[in-house]
Amino acid sequence: MLHPDVTLLAHNYVRPEVQAAADFVGDSLELARIARDRVETPYLVVAGVDFMAETAALLNPDKTVIHPEPFSRCAMALRLTPGDVLAARAAYPDAAVVAYVNTSAAVKAVSDVCCTSANAVEIVNALEEKTVIFVPDRNLALHVAARTEKEVVPVPAIGCCPVHHALTAGEVRAARALHPGAEVMVHPETSPEVQAEADYIGSTSGMLRRATQTRAETVIVGTEIGLIPRLEQAAPGRRFIPASPHLVCADMKMITLELIEQAIARHGPVVKVPEPVASRARHALERMLALSRP
Ligand code: 13P
Ligand code: SF4
Repeated sequence: MLHPDVTLLAHNYVRPEVQAAADFVGDSLELARIARDRVETPYLVVAGVDFMAETAALLNPDKTVIHPEPFSRCAMALRLTPGDVLAARAAYPDAAVVAYVNTSAAVKAVSDVCCTSANAVEIVNALEEKTVIFVPDRNLALHVAARTEKEVVPVPAIGCCPVHHALTAGEVRAARALHPGAEVMVHPETSPEVQAEADYIGSTSGMLRRATQTRAETVIVGTEIGLIPRLEQAAPGRRFIPASPHLVCADMKMITLELIEQAIARHGPVVKVPEPVASRARHALERMLALSRP
């Protein structure tokens, strides 16, 4: 605990020393649930990118939510505007809009429901609509499309995470050749070609669980390298090899312990989402939590 009035939530990708100082560490879905249900202090500090802090503020409006570095922004979320969603709605008037949580509050506000990488298939399958506009990650949209009967329309046509999309199937094959017998686990934000090379595809916390279950001595990890120390802690004795040395989200690494301490001392920067965007975005998030397994 850094301060008795503060709960620190950290995403699985932030610096190891920030994860070590946190009260809770998790994937996007776990952090959203914890922010809503488990915070007893007046201040909630979120060590992660902007949409994670915004999500916490939306789900727990009674707390003061602090994002220590507002310039730490998800490059994929930045690329999509509410106007893009409204244009897609006009083109597919009978479709539901499913917004990956890696979006701004303004995009969530014009969507029907949110999802994370941990529950995207579950959420899409729980909807009544036969067609789903899925924003903004095309790779996750195609991952879902392969696991549902519904028509999934990715919007925008080339939305992606620049970190995960840069991983190539050739790099994964080269890592396998170097480590015969290794298991390959990847995040669903990687390309379909990379996912086709994988033994396991899941969210960051899904990969943590898998790491404790696999029998493989060596695991090749196709996600941001911040997960590697977490995996080593969760499954001591196994070797975890990054699928590429370039899997680094610079925005996640912007959150330092020093910035967190400064933010606690200053009680800011505070995350505030104005109305009516806040109520609409909260509705899409709450609907996701209601539709996904606890
Ligand atoms: P998870 O929800 O799997 O933790 O992923 C968040 C993310 O930003 C992946 O790049
Ligand atoms: Fe966004 Fe990609 Fe960074 Fe995740 S890894 S926060 S999707 S830019």
